[in-house]
Formats: sequence, structure tokens, C-alpha cells
Amino acid sequence: MKTKIVLPGECEFSDNMTECLETYLGSCVGVAIHDPIIKTGGLLHIILPDGPDYKKEARPCYYAVTGIPHLVSGLERMGSSRKNLTASIAGGAHINTMNPSCASFNIGQRNIVMTEALLAEFGIMVAQSSLGGNWGRGMRLDVGNGRVTINSSRKEQVEPGSVDTTTCDVKQILLQKANELQPSSKVAIRALQLANSSFASFRDLTELILKDQVLAANVMKLSNSAFFGSSRTITNVSQAINLFGMDRFKKIVIQSCVMDIYPITFDRYGMEDGSFFHHSLACAKIAEAISRQIGIAEPETAYLAGLLHDLGKIVIERFAAAQFMFVLHKLSRKQMSCLQAETDSLGIDHAAIGGIISKKWQLPQELVEAIAYHHKPQNASIANELVSIVHVANHICNMLGIGLSTSTMGDELEMSAIELLKLDEKAVEGLLDIMPEILQSHDF
Ligand SMILES: [Fe+2]
Ligand SMILES: [Fe+2]
Repeated sequence: MKTKIVLPGECEFSDNMTECLETYLGSCVGVAIHDPIIKTGGLLHIILPDGPDYKKEARPCYYAVTGIPHLVSGLERMGSSRKNLTASIAGGAHINTMNPSCASFNIGQRNIVMTEALLAEFGIMVAQSSLGGNWGRGMRLDVGNGRVTINSSRKEQVEPGSVDTTTCDVKQILLQKANELQPSSKVAIRALQLANSSFASFRDLTELILKDQVLAANVMKLSNSAFFGSSRTITNVSQAINLFGMDRFKKIVIQSCVMDIYPITFDRYGMEDGSFFHHSLACAKIAEAISRQIGIAEPETAYLAGLLHDLGKIVIERFAAAQFMFVLHKLSRKQMSCLQAETDSLGIDHAAIGGIISKKWQLPQELVEAIAYHHKPQNASIANELVSIVHVANHICNMLGIGLSTSTMGDELEMSAIELLKLDEKAVEGLLDIMPEILQSHDF
């Protein structure tokens, strides 16, 4: 069956009975409307309840107040009668629900209220809903039969029985594997350090890339995919730098350094295929945008920190498969954050493992802190601003439903980070507002 993915702030329609429409939701709300008579359907992914007029005109599906009329009138144009339509709604999670002081950031709740009010106004019955909580969801509409499947990242997990994990052994294995994790290119770590430096020259970078065939091949592969659609092919590094400019080229190098160690499948954390890299890249772009917007930290460093922030999950995914069910058990049965569940079950959490890897790679201390404390920015000692940027960027990814995983559950938004970056609710909404351009751009 063909599946069409609905991106944040977009809406898709279909009258193809063999097609499914699918979307992933954090604090956003998904609205699926189906006509069982003529078998048509539409799926809308709302990010905010309302917005300024000029923005609502430019991208109506971004907001509930314009997206829902767009969805209903689109179905009517396809021949549906409003009285036959039924809706299903999902999402509106309060990702940071464990922190009562963050109540004012509950965009999810405001999305729900606006969506329900508008559907009532249109006289459309809500047949199914899965709303609120502090976990992400996937929503899928089968156009042929109108069935809506809503998956939660809070999966009910297998009961692990009476055998408890030997946390000590697992921790030792994870520590050892964290120390061993290396990119497949031998010079990638040096290239990461160099690309992060504002002093890196074109010559330094070219010479380094040419020292390693794996890295050079990855750089060419990514350069050509970024250049997709052109009749020309990029065949060497200087051509790529000329075409992209040094700043964009550095990002190509950074991505090329890590692409081989980022797994496609990420089953343990309940992520969709490819979404770990997608989440990391989105976090990189958002962190860079925050840094530029508020003029704090180096944007290149924010980008790199965003790309690497969940590095520790790679080790857990690869080497703690059996023990991870204890993490899931704690998540589903006890009210605790993923980080706490990891520590309780494995003896160490993914942020700490990421800190060990980045230290081993001799990345600058500020990057080590950004990775190690991205869930607890208050623990940073030297790079408070950078750590806070990555923390907020990770939250925005979760709010937009980008690469949602079990670790989204109970993940608190730290007010200290918000205060340090001088962000208020309006500023967070402002950041959410510029995200589609950033995330959909083919820039790196
Ligand atoms: Fe994380
Ligand atoms: Fe993350």
C-alpha cells in the first residue's frame, strides 16, 4: 500500500483507495477527516492554534484556525458532503508535563482546544481521539476504509518477568563500547574538529578530506545529493566548495563524518527507519537557527552539537538490545523520564554515554558538555548557552514530532535554559514559525 507522509504544517488529500496518509505528532495536532460515501480523505498536521494574518495566508495548514477550513473545503471540492464527514484527532502532547513551571508553554493543549472548537463549529463529529499526555504519536489514515491507526511512542512493553538486569555488567559493556565507537573514516574526527573551527581554511579541509577515501567518497555522495536535479556532477572537493561556499561545505563535511555510524533502524527507541538521522539533522538546523536568531554561541558549533547530541543512543541501540526492555518497562509502568529509566536499568543514560564518546574523540569541551547535558542544561559548567540551545532545539524537534522516540516521554523543558536564552512563549512560537523554511530547505 502506498503511503504519503504529511509533513509538519502541511495537509494532504487522497481519493486513492489503496493509499494511506501518515504523520508524526508531538505537541502538534493531526486531524484526519474521511468521507465513507465517496471514499476520500485528508490529513492535516497543525503546529500552532493561530498566527498572524500574512502567515496564515502564506501557509494556512500551519495553523488550526486556517488549516481546518482548508481541509474541509478541500474535501468538499473533491465531492464530499460535510454531513458525511467524520474526524479523528491525535497529538497535542505536553512534552514537558513533568515540570509544572512550564505550564505556559503548553502549546499542545491550546492546539487541542482550537481544533475541537473548530470541528464542532463545522458540525463534524470526532469519532476517535488520542490527545494530550507527554508522549509522541504516529497517525495513519487508510483512505479506502477510513480506518485511523494511532500509535503511541509510549508502547505497552513486554513484561520482563522476575529476572532483573545486571546493571553493573551492562554499564561496563556500554562504557567499553562508548570508548570504542569510531566513525569508519580514519580522519573523520580531525575533520569534525576542523570543520567546527572558524579558522579552518579551504586548503586545510581539502587536504584532510583527500587523506581518507571513505570520507572523500561520503563528501562527494552528499555534495551530489545536495546538487540533485542539476545536469552537472560534482567530481572533486574544490568544485564542491566553489558551488556551496565554505559554510555549507563545512556542514557537508560534518555530516559525511558521522553518516556511517548513524544506523537506519532504531528499534529500541521505537523510532521509524531513518528518523534518528532526521531528528539529529533537524536538531542541528534548529540549534543553528536559534544561535543566529538570538546571537548567542557560534552557529557552526550549535549545528554540530545538534547533530551529535544523541550520539550515546547509538551505543545503547547496538549493544543493549536485550536490556532495553527494562528501560521500556520502567517507562510504561512508572512515571519517570527516559533518562532516569536508562540510568535505573542500564546504569548510565544516553547523554552521559554521548559525553564519553565526544571526550574520547577529543571534541572541544563545550561540545562535550552540549552532548552530555542536553537533557539537563543546568549541569553545564562552561558552555551553558550552547547546552541550553541544544536543549531547546531538541524540544522543538519533539514538539514538531520529528524523530519521536520513547525518550520523548517525560522529557522536561528546563526553565533555566529558557531564561538563559531570554526566550518567552512568544519567542518559542516565533521559532516554531520559522521552522518549516529551515527544515524544508535543501540546505544542510
Ligand atoms: Fe537525548
Ligand atoms: Fe534528541
